[in-house]
Amino acid sequence: MIVGLDVGTSKVICLVGEVLADGSLEIVGIGSHSSKGMKRGVVINIESTVQSIQRAVEEAELMAGCNIHSVYVSVAGSHIRSLNSHGIVAVKNGEVQKEDVDRVIDAAQAVPISSDQRVLHILPQEYHIDSQEGIKDPLGMSGVRLEANVHMISGAANAVMNVEKCIKRCGLGVDGVILSQLASSESSLSEDEKELGVCLVDIGAGTSDIAVWLDGALHHTAVVPVAGDQVTNDISMALRTPTQHAEEIKVKYACAMSSQATVDQAIQVPSVGDRQPRTISRHALAEVVEARYEEIYNLIQDELRRSGYAERIPAGIVITGGTSLMEGAAELAERVFDMPVRLSVPDCAKGMSDIVDNPIYSTSVGLLAYGSKEAETTESSKQVMSKTQNKRDTSLLVAKETGSSFSAAKVWHNLKHWFQSYM
Ligand SMILES: Nc1ncnc2c1ncn2[C@@H]1O[C@H](COP(=O)(O)OP(=O)(O)OP(=O)(O)O)[C@@H](O)[C@H]1O
Ligand SMILES: [Mg+2]
Repeated sequence: MIVGLDVGTSKVICLVGEVLADGSLEIVGIGSHSSKGMKRGVVINIESTVQSIQRAVEEAELMAGCNIHSVYVSVAGSHIRSLNSHGIVAVKNGEVQKEDVDRVIDAAQAVPISSDQRVLHILPQEYHIDSQEGIKDPLGMSGVRLEANVHMISGAANAVMNVEKCIKRCGLGVDGVILSQLASSESSLSEDEKELGVCLVDIGAGTSDIAVWLDGALHHTAVVPVAGDQVTNDISMALRTPTQHAEEIKVKYACAMSSQATVDQAIQVPSVGDRQPRTISRHALAEVVEARYEEIYNLIQDELRRSGYAERIPAGIVITGGTSLMEGAAELAERVFDMPVRLSVPDCAKGMSDIVDNPIYSTSVGLLAYGSKEAETTESSKQVMSKTQNKRDTSLLVAKETGSSFSAAKVWHNLKHWFQSYM
């Protein structure tokens, strides 16, 4: 069993997944609760966050019929930093061993990062052996010099610690802390897209999280602190209606392309206090929403241009997360980015598809996929270790046996010598 916990700005989702014999994932439990103690992806109230996590976990335990002891958790927020780094080492025995790969990754990590940041991921992009580039798996290859390009992701130590603290306060352990858009990429992108070059944008409630993939590896990550909450705020201000009504109107009637909304469609808007409700056209609502979506997309495009990846993503943009559910969101994105855009729903797990086939579940399903891959790697390295141990035990046994036959021969020799001396 693997458990993923997406602690988002608007909700906490807990998913329990079972890894089947063929390696595929089946979701067997879901728990979800609105998130009260988060703002723009970070914890601002420990007590409320603990309560939301507890409720979501209890619900998932009940559905899956199991006790949850530890979880893979997602982190996001503007405190996330990322950079590409490079390391070089000499290959020890002329053939690249696991130890050489570990050393080159260590060497690539040797970059100054601020003391208040904690490294979350070091993701190898490609290796070079002497003059040969673009190597994905260098193990066993011959060469003298091994180089590695890696993508390093760090987050503010305190922000990450607060998320861990909330989980520990619920009596749970942390299997891993995973960057939100890295998890969403696991569930929302195809291998072909990652290979060709693609940008994933997870537009949630508090942040829009960006991940650029190229040649099958993560090359750039960034967070834009504008998302669905701002759209709701705009509606609340423009229509002078309380936030909860604005949220309802947004989900029910809003559209990100004003050209798709008709003028003659009227919406009832509750007013603040005991004033009479008013009526506005769906087109007027769409104009408010379109401006904010355009701003979000422009900020993402600026980030892509600044980082130099705008021209390197032929597979285009993949949008996911709750805010991407808005009618016209993908069409507007195509207009702004001037490249192909698709809306993605998670599709890497079986079971409960009527619930989880929704962009809101991208991160939580991705956490399960990421966790199962990590568990598989740990399991296989454990197997390698136990095989090595077995080999060692067998050779010890052989040595013992050789030792015992050696001593039997010695005893026989001594006895023979003793008999001969008395004959
Ligand atoms: N049908 C819909 N149309 C437009 N927006 C929607 C729709 N359904 C949900 N949303 C919005 O999606 C947002 C929630 O998305 P999501 O669950 O991905 O965010 P989150 O993970 O909680 O937040 P974050 O990732 O920013 O921390 C909310 O702002 C909500 O209003
Ligand atoms: Mg999210």
